[in-house]
Amino acid sequence: MTAPPATRVLSGADDAAIGQAARCLAAGGLVAFPTETVYGLGADAGDGRAIARLYEAKGRPAFNPLIAHVADAAAARALARFDGDAARLAETFWPGPLTLVLPKAGNCPVAELATAGLDTIAVRAPNHPVAQKILAAFGKPIVAPSANRSGRVSPTTAAHVLADLRGRVDLIIDGGATPVGLESTIVACLGAPMLLRPGGLPRQAIERALGRALAQAPHHGEASADNAPPAPGMLASHYAPRTPLRLNVTRVAPGEVLLAFGPNLVAGADKAARVLNLSPHGDLVEAAANLFSHLRSLDTAAASCIAVMPVPQSGLGEAINDRLQRAAARG
Ligand code: TXA
Ligand code: MG
Repeated sequence: MTAPPATRVLSGADDAAIGQAARCLAAGGLVAFPTETVYGLGADAGDGRAIARLYEAKGRPAFNPLIAHVADAAAARALARFDGDAARLAETFWPGPLTLVLPKAGNCPVAELATAGLDTIAVRAPNHPVAQKILAAFGKPIVAPSANRSGRVSPTTAAHVLADLRGRVDLIIDGGATPVGLESTIVACLGAPMLLRPGGLPRQAIERALGRALAQAPHHGEASADNAPPAPGMLASHYAPRTPLRLNVTRVAPGEVLLAFGPNLVAGADKAARVLNLSPHGDLVEAAANLFSHLRSLDTAAASCIAVMPVPQSGLGEAINDRLQRAAARG
C-alpha cells in the first residue's frame, strides 16, 4: 500500500515553482496548472504510467482521450498532421482556447493510453503565462484534462482543484482564477471541419476564419462505451453538480437557489435561499468566467434544486447552455 502523496500548492508567479512543476512532470508526477480556459491536470504525454495515474486520480473512464498541450503549432506538428483548415485555425487562434482533433502523426511520441487507442489526437497551445512557462521548462508535450474529479464541474481556481484532488495529485500551481472560465472549443479537422464541443472560442469566430460553416457533430445524448461518440468525453452527465438543475426557469420555487443571468430577475427570486448572478449586466464573457464557480457555490447550499434563468444562445452562450444542459442531465 502506498500512502497518497501530499499535495503541494505553489504560486505560479514564482519561477522556482515552474522549475518544480517541470521536474515533477519529468519524474512521472501529476501537476495541476492554470490555462486561460480552466485548470488542467498535467502529466508527461509520453509516460504511460503517469497517464494511468492521471486517469486514476480523476476517476475518469479510460476510453476518454486527453488533449496534448504544446507551446505552439510547430510543436503540434510533431504529434499530428495538419490539413489547410487546421493550419489556418492554428495560425489564427493559437495560442488560445481552441483544440484541434487531427490525424495522429506516424511517429507521434504521445502514449497510446492518452489517445485511448484512437488514430486521431487532440492538440492545443494554451494562452496562459503559467501554462506556457511550464511547457517551455518541461520541453515536451503535456497531456491535461480539466483538473476535476470525473463528473464534477471544471475548476477555474486552485481552490477548486484542491477541493477535488487533494491527496490525489503531487503539485498544484496557483495562477489565480482562469480568465475564460470555459473549456476550449474542440474542432475536428479530419475532412470538413466539425464542431465537437462548443467552448471558450465562439463558433462564429472559427467560421469567419474558415470562410464557411462548421459541420455539427451528431448529438449523443446518451453516449455509452459501445457507441463511441465523436468526442468520447461528451457524456451527457459529465458536468453534473450533486444538486439537480432546472433550466430556463420563469419562476423560482420555494427551497430552490437561483443561478441568475442579467439585470431582471425572475419571479420568486426574492424568496430564493441564495442567488448568484452569472452576469448582472448580461455579459456572456463574464457569465462564462463565473459559470463553474457559481455552480459549485450553489451546489454547497444543500438546496432541493438549482433554478437557472435562461441564457441567450449567441456567442459564448452556446457553450454555456451546452454545459448547463450536461449539468442538468442526470441518471
Ligand atoms: O480547455 C480545455 O480544453 C481544458 C484545458 C485544461 O486545456 N482541457 C479539457 O480537457 O477540457 P478534458 O479532458 O476535460 O476534455 C477534452 C475533451 C474530452 O471530451 C475528450 O473526449 C475529447 O476532448 N477528446 C480528446 N481527444 C479526442 C479525440 N482524438 N477525438 C475526439 N475527442 C477527443
Ligand atoms: Mg473535463
